[in-house]
Amino acid sequence: MRTAAIELVVNGTRRAIASEGEASLLSVLRDEIGLTGAKYGCGEGQCGACTVLIDGVPRRSCITKVWSVAGKAITTIEGIERDGALHPLQEAFLVEDALQCGYCTSGMIVSGVGLLKTNPHPSDAEILEFMEGNICRCGTYPRILAAIRRAAAGNGGVR
Ligand code: FES
Ligand code: FES
Repeated sequence: MRTAAIELVVNGTRRAIASEGEASLLSVLRDEIGLTGAKYGCGEGQCGACTVLIDGVPRRSCITKVWSVAGKAITTIEGIERDGALHPLQEAFLVEDALQCGYCTSGMIVSGVGLLKTNPHPSDAEILEFMEGNICRCGTYPRILAAIRRAAAGNGGVR
């Protein structure tokens, strides 16, 4: 067990963490830092509700030990907007009405942002493959696909 103090960089802010290193990143984000956008779904890395970006890459925070991401850039749904403006994918989710209960939505958007960072104009097949690990119990997949398409279509400046 690692007991040294851990420092996280969450949405651009450095934070000293009191939780032990074996704690899950999701529990630290939600219970210690108070960022509750990432959701606890399966707790086993299977549903994607807890997705955050680690150095720009989507990761399941429920199965990520907090010590393993010390010093890395962690981006949660709360850090996706810029200067009060929603990310284009967040706007697209609203325009396409791509949510029902919303439980999966932050994970969907964070994963989608990760996709658009590396592939600004993905094909439908690439979107489906990339988003395969994000589950929506409400079945809004067609509208989620439409939202990612919409954001990609206007994706002149990826962020
Ligand atoms: S809660 Fe993390 S993948 Fe389901
Ligand atoms: S909108 Fe309900 S789980 Fe996706």
